[in-house]
Amino acid sequence: MSGFFTVLISRTLTVACLLIAGMTWSGAALAADAARGETLAKRWCAACHVVSADQAQGGTQAPAFSTIAKTRGLDAAGIALFLLAPHPKMPDMSLSRAEAADLAAYIHTQK
Ligand code: HEC
Repeated sequence: MSGFFTVLISRTLTVACLLIAGMTWSGAALAADAARGETLAKRWCAACHVVSADQAQGGTQAPAFSTIAKTRGLDAAGIALFLLAPHPKMPDMSLSRAEAADLAAYIHTQK
């Protein structure tokens, strides 16, 4: 009988840990700051991407942020994950999680 309860309790703890980990991740995404993302985008991304409506031109190969926001159906978390992974045609910018989340929040506002 006590063995059953031990298993039950350890299962419950595992589920609780997963829930907390999940909440921490989505919490970080919610705390993302689109205004900070805009500053980062204009500094680091504007050479290739059109990052805002008032920017006339970017590089020729890179999609505009408004296009990314509209066509890819990436939510902020998806964009943040993409940015943390090195991408063949894009230099590895070694963004922190917070910076990636801010950029993702900003890209999302360009829809
Ligand atoms: C040196 C040029 C360059 C810079 C700088 C650059 N990008 Fe890119 N980016 C590209 C290119 C080119 C693509 C298209 C890649 C492809 O088609 O495979 C791309 C694709 C992307 C995509 C995915 C679009 C999609 O449809 O999959 C995202 C998101 C993105 N860039 C975000 C950023 C952010 C945010 C920054 C600034 C931190 C940045 N990029 C800086 C060249 C650049």
